[in-house]
Amino acid sequence: MPTGIPPAAAFARIPKGASAAVAVKLRLDQSCCFIFLCSLAGSLLQVGGVVAEVWRAAEWFGACYVIDARGGVRKNTWTMAQKLSDKRLAVLGAGKLGGILLRAYLKQGLFAAKRVTATVKHGEKAKALAKELGVSVTNDNRKAVKDADIILLGVKPQVVGDVLREIAPELSEKTLVISVAASVPTGYLEERLVKKVPVVRAMPNTPSAVGCGMTGICAGAHAKPEHLEIALAMFNAVGRTVAVDEKNMDGVTALSASGPAYAYIILESLAEAGVKVGLPRDVATLLAAQTMKGAASVVLETGDHPALLKDAVTTPAGCTIDGIMELEEGKLRVTLIKAVVKATERAGQLLFEK
Ligand SMILES: NC(=O)c1ccc[n+]([C@@H]2O[C@H](COP(=O)([O-])OP(=O)(O)OC[C@H]3O[C@@H](n4cnc5c(N)ncnc54)[C@H](OP(=O)(O)O)[C@@H]3O)[C@@H](O)[C@H]2O)c1
Repeated sequence: MPTGIPPAAAFARIPKGASAAVAVKLRLDQSCCFIFLCSLAGSLLQVGGVVAEVWRAAEWFGACYVIDARGGVRKNTWTMAQKLSDKRLAVLGAGKLGGILLRAYLKQGLFAAKRVTATVKHGEKAKALAKELGVSVTNDNRKAVKDADIILLGVKPQVVGDVLREIAPELSEKTLVISVAASVPTGYLEERLVKKVPVVRAMPNTPSAVGCGMTGICAGAHAKPEHLEIALAMFNAVGRTVAVDEKNMDGVTALSASGPAYAYIILESLAEAGVKVGLPRDVATLLAAQTMKGAASVVLETGDHPALLKDAVTTPAGCTIDGIMELEEGKLRVTLIKAVVKATERAGQLLFEK
């Protein structure tokens, strides 16, 4: 959509190389090309103005996107939302995580309810979910994926193989399979899908429920950039996304997918500490939660090293250093490191259990 930003501001917002990317994109799109030529004729003497006009024209057509260094997609929200709302989505295993993602997509209008089908194992859950979300819910996976463009696989790792065998005959190279199952490599999925079905593996976390999720993502052998782009858009819609090598997916699982559980334990402990020193429980919980959110926000927004930020809180001979000494004596750091190492090892084993 047009933003009405002044040309100078628009120019300043264009990252290096983006104008070239926009121009290439425009050449592919006849209607945008027309706008480009008009802009060029009208602003020939002002190079900055030309670029800004091109940028605006591209924004008007929703044709402009730039992939940033972290692998996140910016600038394509509107275009991609439009593209996805035409797609048919099947969520297989709409449990805790599948349900969180599905609720978010429907709330944001990313997918149209009439084009979404979900599955669960138990009939009564299917009925309740259908009533709550207004989408078709069944326990027939094969029926659910018929004609689906995108399949979001949200069943437990140990169930993935059976579900893939069930749905494989219905899929083609045009279907995109996105799996959020821990421990299940893209190669395992591809082998069972037989045809060259594009696969993307993703590892989101539960704060996706409030748009504050963190997802690690990697592409399988048959996935093309457009498939990765769709998956990135689906996870960027519920938080942030980072592209990683598949060898690091168990680490992502242990750190950011399991991470909210560790964070809740720390948060709960801080709140208990507040109660111990006389604060009402609700006040203590608010102080602990907002403090953790604030500290995390500073790291994300400044990019500063956490150790430097910690030093800024630690006044010489003040009270924080006494608190830190207790944390060090209690081995908080090494305990957290060991927790993530253990969970990473475990993430590699889940698939092979029955
Ligand atoms: N929870 C997290 O924080 C998190 C984070 C990242 C990744 N994951 C991954 O997400 C997946 C699901 O985890 P979850 O915590 O959401 O578990 P969950 O709540 O138990 O969800 C699993 C869902 O799969 C359904 N199901 C079981 N067998 C099925 C079948 N044959 N066909 C169709 N649906 C079937 C279950 O149906 P019923 O409801 O009827 O039992 C349930 O709705 C796992 O692979 C996990 O590794 C989870």
